[in-house]
Amino acid sequence: MHNNIIFHAKPGGQLSGKIRVPGDKSISHRSIMLGSLAEGTTHVQGFLDGEDCLATLRVFRQLGVEIEGPDQGRVVIHGVGLHGLKATDQSLDLGNSGTSMRLLSGLMAAQSFDVELLGDASLNKRPMRRVTEPLAQMGAVIEATETGTPPLKIKGGQRLKAIDYVMPVASAQVKSCLLLAGMYADGQTCITEPAPTRDHTERMLRGFGYPVETRDNRICLQGGGCLKATDIDVPSDISSAAFFLVGASIAQGSDLWLEHVGVNPTRTGVIDILRLMGAQISLHNQHEVGGEAVADIHVVSSKLKGITIPEELVPLAIDEFPAVFIAAACAEGETRLTGAEELRVKESDRIQVMADGLQACGIVAEPTPDGIIIQGGQLQAGRVSSHGDHRIAMSFAMAALCSQGEIVIEDCANVDTSFPGFVSLANSAGLNIKAGA
Ligand code: S3P
Repeated sequence: MHNNIIFHAKPGGQLSGKIRVPGDKSISHRSIMLGSLAEGTTHVQGFLDGEDCLATLRVFRQLGVEIEGPDQGRVVIHGVGLHGLKATDQSLDLGNSGTSMRLLSGLMAAQSFDVELLGDASLNKRPMRRVTEPLAQMGAVIEATETGTPPLKIKGGQRLKAIDYVMPVASAQVKSCLLLAGMYADGQTCITEPAPTRDHTERMLRGFGYPVETRDNRICLQGGGCLKATDIDVPSDISSAAFFLVGASIAQGSDLWLEHVGVNPTRTGVIDILRLMGAQISLHNQHEVGGEAVADIHVVSSKLKGITIPEELVPLAIDEFPAVFIAAACAEGETRLTGAEELRVKESDRIQVMADGLQACGIVAEPTPDGIIIQGGQLQAGRVSSHGDHRIAMSFAMAALCSQGEIVIEDCANVDTSFPGFVSLANSAGLNIKAGA
């Protein structure tokens, strides 16, 4: 992956029209994983062909699964059953994708063969003890670096036993990892979350006919079941829509529709936060597709005000904070975020990197150990580094809509991990971005 792509975002403009952002990243990863392990053929449409999900797809091919596509969002997976994956001599390279690494560690811990999981420079710095420790309690044998980061060497042939695990962090990746391992374990695996996190794994497991019980914050499944192939319609990713929700809110005169967006209630924190700030966002044509809520979202510009972000919304908007911080920079008054230390271990340290970028554009932004305090003001021309973090890059592209001068964003190649075609879609909606070397 080349990280030398630079975005030049010209100031001003407004967002209008009807757009459809690419498919949901979380659901796309899971469609490949469960489709591969199912009995029968799974047809997926709306699959996100971003680099992260393609890494997952390639790895399952490497493990012997026949997968056709993606072809305009269509993928056909010829499932091999829970015990049908084949050994490979090569390491499994998961690129920039934390979701692939964490979910696969659970699945791979239960296979009959050894594997090594590794990633790019960013992923190789991310914490993995949150999965390796509970997996070890289940009987998995996994070796990480001394600091608990990848590469992960996973020893096959272990007999896993179920655990009853109380998660110390609210993480859908940890929950999903343990549920996937739990399918192979003797007994009933139960996981208690400190706060609700995205529940796509639970929903999709049920869609594949695997019973999962959810009561309050406790999720349980019994080992030894099987997955039956099904068809999956992946909605647009609310995390990708979020840039446009912020952009249209801050750019005067905007009137934008985002079509067929996934609005699973464990993902809609960004809408709640922006509404508390005064955004005008409405949901239309709400319906369910394959167990996931979907809606068309209408957003018109409005005057935003700073708020104290309710901590219970943090896990429900965990990927959207870079965009929310841009909204805060354009709002009147102060915005305060607490309880979000997880942002420091995402694709970049999103608290520090956003604070640096906002300051470079003339905004007063004070990072704290678990959040940030942002004083709304006037964004100026600036040069910022995304540190190879897709969501930082796209957030600052939106910031140009209410800045006084051009915003130059470095290190943007990883936008393709979650949002291929971002520049052309954003330009078609009214931004003025050029991507160059
Ligand atoms: C994801 C869960 C979240 C999120 C990530 C995708 C998932 O991570 O940040 O982009 O698909 O389960 P955590 O579970 O670590 O918060």
